[in-house]
Amino acid sequence: MLHENPIIFNHPLISHKITLLRDVNTGNMQFRELVEEIATLMGYEALRDLPTELIAIETPITKTMAPVISGKKLAIVPILRAGLGMVNGIHALVPTAKVGHIGLYRDHETLEPHEYYCKLPEDIDQRLVILLDPMLATGGSACAAVDFIKQRGCKHIKFMSIIAAPVGIKRLMEAHPDIQLYCGCLDEKLNENGYIVPGLGDAGDRIFGTM
Ligand code: PRP
Ligand code: URA
Repeated sequence: MLHENPIIFNHPLISHKITLLRDVNTGNMQFRELVEEIATLMGYEALRDLPTELIAIETPITKTMAPVISGKKLAIVPILRAGLGMVNGIHALVPTAKVGHIGLYRDHETLEPHEYYCKLPEDIDQRLVILLDPMLATGGSACAAVDFIKQRGCKHIKFMSIIAAPVGIKRLMEAHPDIQLYCGCLDEKLNENGYIVPGLGDAGDRIFGTM
């Protein structure tokens, strides 16, 4: 089946919440709530092709066959720090998903990602991986995270970002054309410091209140 790739959500509920995220007057608590809510809304669409199988059940009326999610299900993998803000939004949809973590920070001068942590579920190669990071800027962090996951044998990867810059999408899709990319919205460009314009500033700082 052919999929649009990337999928850019132009959904009024997601757009409205992203506008609130962008607003410099939105405080840390509301920012965290919005990131989680947007992740759930995006996840609803991103998980629409999860495999299902029919099981036998009995309703109060009759016996019937009804669908449940089949197979090894998911691994949710946030890119630290900011990706952490999206985890509960996906976990709310699939509570049995395992969670891995990839720690990356961008060097402020070179904008290149540096790894400081990587802990993934042992059977991650048998799972659909939902990689989470609210910001896809140069694409360096996303590419590095996908590299780690592929080194562990994963073949089925979906990447969810809330705001993406064109250059980041291009870099990620060229390096990893086999992954499915979901973006809450597509912004205009990066500024001279590598921040997305208009963007929302530093997502990690706004989630954790560290600015
Ligand atoms: C931010 C963001 C992404 C990355 C995106 O993280 O959460 O991981 O930048 O930029 P890129 O596409 O140019 O790589 P940051 O490095 O600021 O770390 P933090 O989440 O710990 O603040
Ligand atoms: N990381 C962020 O948190 N924000 C940006 O605009 C770019 C990278």
